[in-house]
Amino acid sequence: MLLSPGDFSTPTEFTPLFGREAPLVLEIGFGDGRYLEHLQAAHPEWNLIGAEISLGSVWRAYRRMRRCRAQHVHLYKGSGRFIVRDVAPDGGLHRVYVNFPDPWPRKRHLKNRLLQVPFFHILSHRLEEGGDLLLTTDHPEYFAFSVEQGKASGCFAVVEGPPPPATLETKYARKWLDQKKPIYHARFLLKQRAEAIITRNPVIPMQHAILDGTLSDIGTFSKQVRSFRGGHAIVLEAYRDLASEGLLFKAVSEEEDLRQELIIQAWPTEDGVLVSLQPFGNPMTTRGVRESVMAVADWLTSQGLSLRQAWI
Ligand SMILES: C[S@@+](CC[C@H](N)C(=O)[O-])C[C@H]1O[C@@H](n2cnc3c(N)ncnc32)[C@H](O)[C@@H]1O
Repeated sequence: MLLSPGDFSTPTEFTPLFGREAPLVLEIGFGDGRYLEHLQAAHPEWNLIGAEISLGSVWRAYRRMRRCRAQHVHLYKGSGRFIVRDVAPDGGLHRVYVNFPDPWPRKRHLKNRLLQVPFFHILSHRLEEGGDLLLTTDHPEYFAFSVEQGKASGCFAVVEGPPPPATLETKYARKWLDQKKPIYHARFLLKQRAEAIITRNPVIPMQHAILDGTLSDIGTFSKQVRSFRGGHAIVLEAYRDLASEGLLFKAVSEEEDLRQELIIQAWPTEDGVLVSLQPFGNPMTTRGVRESVMAVADWLTSQGLSLRQAWI
């Protein structure tokens, strides 16, 4: 029920993940999962995927899904933009729900808003024909902005109307209704696909490198940052194994809409020092992961080891 980046490919074949073929519906920012609970009961014929960036919310929703014995729901802790951009197959989404998205009211934060022209362009490729996005919000300014952006994308017909009753039962809906705030709703119905070709972040085979030299003399480490087109690889800390001279590195790969925490090991073997990714956290092996492994290998060469072989 809980998915991590390593469970996905770009794009992902969802039928085996759910164990059945069914319309795929995504909720972005599900909060405590109340609306997903409603959807799985109201639409047992749908395969539901929820994306949420807050870990606390994911756990609350996970417990809720267990309690209601949800059959066809998967939760992903991470950005819904990643699911739409990289993971969802072309024409593979039946519907997307966005309930009470963070409004980012400050001018300098506007770029963080989800519903903007570039997102609508990507979405136009991922929705099936006749597919739609349903937005419900308490925020008049973000609502007007989203409607304007949806229309400006040239891909969606926007129909404003009353929100589906169940969206008024989410945690945030209750909060705003208690404050007597009006609630706004629009349906963004796919009209045509954007001309722009949307490239996905490819999954690449596991990366590793072999170095000659010894790790035992290394006594200090400083943070390593490696920038590449589309992201950064940051090696944060190094730890020594008590039983051998092996080193473990904590790293972060930051790519568009995908942030992965990684553990990379540098381990003495009969063939030399093997630098490779550990599978903790089930990462997706993207360019950022490769760059992180190579950042560790490069740092080791700066410490006197020499790169014998790198598989990239
Ligand atoms: C205001 S809350 C609304 C929660 C829930 N939909 C409700 O109605 O109670 C917005 C939620 O969106 C989540 N969120 C923000 N950006 C996101 C993104 N790019 N992908 C997934 N979730 C996101 C936040 O963590 C937060 O839980």
